[in-house]
Amino acid sequence: MTSRAVQYARYGGPEVLEIVEREDPQPGPGQVRLAVRAASVNPIDWKLRSGGMASSDAPDRPVIAGVDLAGTVEAVGEGVTAFGVGDEVLGHAKGGAYAEKALADTSALAPRPGGLSWEVAGALPVVTTTAYRGLALLGLGEGDDTAGKVLVVNGASGGVGVVATQVAVARGVTVIGTASERHQDDVEALGATPVVYGEGLADRVRTITDHVDAAFDTAGKGALGDLVALTGSADRVITIADPDAAKYDVKFTGGAGAASEEVEGALADFVGGVASGQYRAPGVTVYPLEQAGKAQEDNRTGAVSGKLVITP
Ligand SMILES: NC(=O)c1ccc[n+]([C@@H]2O[C@H](COP(=O)([O-])OP(=O)(O)OC[C@H]3O[C@@H](n4cnc5c(N)ncnc54)[C@H](OP(=O)(O)O)[C@@H]3O)[C@@H](O)[C@H]2O)c1
Repeated sequence: MTSRAVQYARYGGPEVLEIVEREDPQPGPGQVRLAVRAASVNPIDWKLRSGGMASSDAPDRPVIAGVDLAGTVEAVGEGVTAFGVGDEVLGHAKGGAYAEKALADTSALAPRPGGLSWEVAGALPVVTTTAYRGLALLGLGEGDDTAGKVLVVNGASGGVGVVATQVAVARGVTVIGTASERHQDDVEALGATPVVYGEGLADRVRTITDHVDAAFDTAGKGALGDLVALTGSADRVITIADPDAAKYDVKFTGGAGAASEEVEGALADFVGGVASGQYRAPGVTVYPLEQAGKAQEDNRTGAVSGKLVITP
């Protein structure tokens, strides 16, 4: 059987994305094949596609875009017991997600809770595991002594920021969340004190509090100097996006993949919380497979906020 996927064979703008008809991928040991219902757009998708993170002009072989998704298991590989055909799941894809059919390691998947739409389910895996990892690295993880701590989330209106902010608030943390003017109310609705990002950030935060325990930079837009000044130490700051992390001695945490315990714990907790109404899901805008390039551009330019999702 064949099915459609969005791939690029050279680096460049959104025009390098093309829809191809390919043989359905076959799940290897420990893997399943999913009939994809929704794949999320993450900034890493257009960063990789542009070639900005590569040292050559073209990838070694064509790349299927996308790293996370939700869908229905339709074939299982050798040794798979965790999921069976017909199960509805969400998580991290292996070898691309913008496709009608995609593979995933079962260790990178969690069940889709009842009541959660496919679009929201597909939007959440990467931002959720990244947010939980960031909080844990700052000593604000599950089981840590978090009550009364003060955290600045830089980029609180973005995919990772929306998750990190709400989970920190639920753990008793006081969150100051940065966003553009237009998203101040959205950040407040997450339970944080909103502040506008950009130059003068440290001074604006100091009008709210004279003590910040930790800072989570989810934006990567040159705020690390301010965040180190606010916390008093580079050890209390992490970034998932700022290329200048080393200059400030700040930890950069990377890696699109997530450990299985991270996936299990984070997805069960946050996605379950969204399904039960404890947490708000980011707003989701849906694009068909044919408009994958437009979806990536809308995310890159910030023209469309919230999570952008591709449905085959
Ligand atoms: N290292 C990892 O493991 C990992 C994992 C996931 C993501 N990331 C990276 O983390 C970043 C955020 O990802 P995402 O999915 O959350 O992106 P997103 O949904 O596109 O959100 C971007 C956020 O950045 C904010 N922002 C824009 N300009 C800013 C500025 N000058 N100062 C502060 N904030 C600004 C936006 O606020 P407004 O909308 O209000 O302007 C929004 O809150 C991306 O660079 C992505 O590649 C890294």
